[in-house]
Amino acid sequence: MRSVKISGMTVLGIESSCDETSAAVVRDGRVLLSNVVSTSLDLHKAYGGVVPEIAARSHIEVITPVIEEALAVAFPGVANPWDEIDAIAVTCGAGLGGSLLVGVMTARTLAITKNKPLYACNHVEGHVYANFLNETNLDNYQLREKQPEFPLLALIVSGGHSQLVLFKDHFNYELLGRTRDDAIGEAFDKVAKIIGLPYPGGPSVSESAKNGDAVKYSFPKANLDHPYEFSFSGLKTAVLRLAQAEIGEDFTFPSFKVAERLSETQRNDIAASFQRVAIETVVDKAVKAYEQFAPKSVVIAGGVAANQELRRQLRERLPCSIDYTDIKLCTDNGAMIATLGCYHAMLDSEPADPYSLQIQPNLSM
Ligand code: KG4
Ligand code: ZN
Repeated sequence: MRSVKISGMTVLGIESSCDETSAAVVRDGRVLLSNVVSTSLDLHKAYGGVVPEIAARSHIEVITPVIEEALAVAFPGVANPWDEIDAIAVTCGAGLGGSLLVGVMTARTLAITKNKPLYACNHVEGHVYANFLNETNLDNYQLREKQPEFPLLALIVSGGHSQLVLFKDHFNYELLGRTRDDAIGEAFDKVAKIIGLPYPGGPSVSESAKNGDAVKYSFPKANLDHPYEFSFSGLKTAVLRLAQAEIGEDFTFPSFKVAERLSETQRNDIAASFQRVAIETVVDKAVKAYEQFAPKSVVIAGGVAANQELRRQLRERLPCSIDYTDIKLCTDNGAMIATLGCYHAMLDSEPADPYSLQIQPNLSM
């Protein structure tokens, strides 16, 4: 087990991989001092998904004020908050090229001008590290009581990723399985579009599902030969076929015209039944992995970790207790990157060269 130096390490984290521009300050990989998030979500809603060019332009406009606010909140009344920062961490991938570029260029510039070490962070690893935060003075954050312990099973469920990862220690992990096609968050977003709910689909489908019958419709679960791999594209197609049949049409009926013909009840029932099956699919695999690998902790990470049905099913089916972090720390945020950056600094990872650090849009775990 690698030992963590308790060194009073304070890290500024910068995240800009998709449509959230965020900066946060974290101390010792567990104390949350600030987390400022600005999102360009509203600008993308009309298009039904994130438009990369619009996201990148928004990052440019807000990144400096977001960082200044993160420092001001973390160190109220301190004349030069930069004196309190030991290192800068930034998401270098995976994500949208233009979006990543804004965060990475900003972090590189600050690392040079403020003379701080710079740590390049993997966005998906960052999601897992949101679970290490367990203390804060900020209002409205419900953190975990204890930090997770190794070996640690992580169920990572976001708009771009669905994977099960076994962490033996910090930076020592094994990818047990991932999605073969769509990520689970992507399935929520696509199903929302089919049944006429707003983007992003995760929150709108789960809201609609509250008024629906989750066992009204049965949808198939992908039956793969690999125990820990996922597939969600078949489920999305099954939802489309069912919705077409419900309005008395066949598979040739255009998907974009389905929503206007569905009743409120049909929409809610489809949302609830889809959500139940999608969540059961990932919970089935997480429970299987728990039984095979007997981890000391299980964590959930990524935007879909905000889903209450996922939290409920895991509590019900895992034979161990499970603690969840704040919903605000599940979707993209700077705090998770600052936390991961603290562990890079405390475990002596090699800092990045601020004159040459590049973005890695396709970075995997
Ligand atoms: O982690 P994230 O903010 O961005 C990526 O790294 O992908 O995740 C965004 C995804 C979207 O697909 C969104 O629909 C989904 O997370 N999401 C949810 C919920 N809140 C966000 N999915 C299900 N239930 C939710 N409550
Ligand atoms: Zn994310």
